[in-house]
Amino acid sequence: MTQDEMKKAAGWAALKYVVPGSIVGVGTGSTVNHFIDALATMKDEIKGAVSSSVASTERLKGFGIPVFDLNDVDTLSVYVDGADEINATRDMIKGGGAALTREKIVAAVADQFICIIDNTKTVDVLGTFPLPVEVIPMAREYVAREIRALGGNPVWREGVITDNGNIILDVKGMAITDAKQLETQLNSIVGVVTNGLFAHRGADVVLIGTPDGVVTQQG
Ligand code: 5RP
Repeated sequence: MTQDEMKKAAGWAALKYVVPGSIVGVGTGSTVNHFIDALATMKDEIKGAVSSSVASTERLKGFGIPVFDLNDVDTLSVYVDGADEINATRDMIKGGGAALTREKIVAAVADQFICIIDNTKTVDVLGTFPLPVEVIPMAREYVAREIRALGGNPVWREGVITDNGNIILDVKGMAITDAKQLETQLNSIVGVVTNGLFAHRGADVVLIGTPDGVVTQQG
């Protein structure tokens, strides 16, 4: 089974968490693209979606699924999104697709975070995947120095501008044993918009595509 087939299995498995008649929070990435394809098969049973990126919005609209502005929506029963790494307590690194800020905002509104991944994304300790940090452009070098002082090695993702007009620093070389603490520390650096640690709001349910089928983990 290829990695993409495992992503597809996880994406389609998330359909059963979609509440008929509701608005669905939709993340970003290749695994989520499979979820959007699946969601299109029940588009007449949902009100629509709130999207975390321009790319996902375009895909949703391409299927005729209405996309709502988050400001017009009070509640979301589920938010479905992928991850770059996830540990046993369901803390995640996200933002490989540079959509971390909108992902974190939509996830904050949702009652349940359904994480869809293939089996290469599970880790004992977060940090092998470089941790994305979205930064206001003029603060890039200041934030980089502050992150170096915390022991990380920030690398500017040159050529990438987020949907919010900001830049991304990918932080290498950190073995993240206290994800909540580091999430808070990074957020307190002036110029940081968001960091890709999803620990204060981790996943509630994890659907892992494996060669033997989809494995479900939850607290
Ligand atoms: C985008 C994300 C994605 O969820 C993460 O990068 C996983 O992507 P993929 O499903 O393509 O492996 O956080 O910002």
